Parts: sequence; structure tokens; C-alpha cells
Amino acid sequence: MIWSIATSFPTSRATWLRFWHSERMALDPRLARLVGTWRGDGVGCYPTIADFAYTDEITFNDTGKPFLHFVQRTWINGEPRHTETGYWRMPSPDAVEVVIALPTGQAERGSGTCRTDEDGAIVMETDSSVQNTPSAKQVDRIVRRLRVDGDRMHYEVLMEAVGQGLALHLSSDVRRAL
Ligand code: HEM
Repeated sequence: MIWSIATSFPTSRATWLRFWHSERMALDPRLARLVGTWRGDGVGCYPTIADFAYTDEITFNDTGKPFLHFVQRTWINGEPRHTETGYWRMPSPDAVEVVIALPTGQAERGSGTCRTDEDGAIVMETDSSVQNTPSAKQVDRIVRRLRVDGDRMHYEVLMEAVGQGLALHLSSDVRRAL
């Protein structure tokens, strides 16, 4: 009897650890709904610049880990413009955290919430502080609002930058392409 318990313990402990590990490493199901490539059109504005329209492509990559790798590429009149890349993760069921790098010299890190609204759409909002490289235009805060309803995504990006208060910079509608 004692021998039997002694020999079975390591196996059951290993099984339990595997279960615990797989649960811990699982991608949150709401983040999983973002995985894929999304394409569409956006519009941009800010108190200091002229309004503009842009072509938008966003890819959320499943990394096999409990976070998504994210890449955005944009074009204006066919010319490559802003791009950015980073990570989205959910440290707990209703919390989102982002770390995103911008080629214009900003590093964004922030946190926020994730919920499912009355229509079953996923709604995320993050609020980030920003660090700027010495030659970058000053950006102090970035707020991202994202709504995913099936194969449609709408997002808005607001920023506090170049001495202005929080104001809308981007609004875009994209559809799942891949
Ligand atoms: C979080 C992401 C972004 C941040 C923090 C950001 C930040 C900024 C800042 C600080 C300015 C300068 C405003 C001024 O000088 O008065 C600017 C301008 C501009 N942004 Fe963004 N931007 C972002 C994403 C985008 C995206 C996705 C596009 C799409 C094409 C875009 C297109 C533009 C354009 C066309 C201008 C005006 C011309 C220029 O300065 O190049 N931005 N942005």
C-alpha cells in the first residue's frame, strides 16, 4: 500500500503540474478571437494636422503563448506610412495589457479592461503612458478603444501629444481578411 502511494505520487504530481501549466499558458478566448489579419480603411485627425484617410492592415499572431503579437501597417495613397508592433496579453479575465513600439520614437505601455457587451462583441480599452526618444515628437498618453464583433473590428486611437489634450487621432473599420 505504502509502496503503491509512493510510486504513484510522482506521476499524479506530474499530471497535475502539466494540467496547471496548460491552464496557465492558455490564450484567453477573447484574445483568441483577434487572431488573424484584418484589413480596411481608417481616417485620421488631430487639432494640429489636416484630416487624412488611410488603408489599414492589422495582424494578431497566435504565438502559442498566452499573449498575441501584433503588427499594424498603413498606407496613404499607396505609400507606406505608420507601422507599429507589440504585444497584447490578458493577465486576468477582464484585464488587458499592451506593450507597443512605434517607429516615430515612442514606446507605449499600458493597461485597461476587456468585456463582452450586450451584442456579444468584445470591447477593450487601454490607457498608456509613453516614453519618447530624444528626437521624437512628444506623445504623453495613448488611449486605444477596440470593438470586435465577429469578423468586423472598429478601433479608435486618442492621444495627448505635441502640447494638446487627449483628442482623437485615428478611427478605423477593418474586416477579417485571413
Ligand atoms: C498610436 C499610434 C500613433 C501615434 C502615437 C501617432 C502620433 C502622431 C503625432 C505625434 C503626430 C504629429 C502631430 C503634429 O505634429 O502636430 C502625428 C501626425 C500624423 N500621423 Fe500619427 N500617430 C499614430 C498613428 C498613425 C497612423 C496609424 C497613421 C496612418 C497613416 C498616422 C498618420 C499620421 C499623419 C498623416 C500625420 C500628419 C502628418 C505627419 O506628421 O506625418 N498616424 N501622429
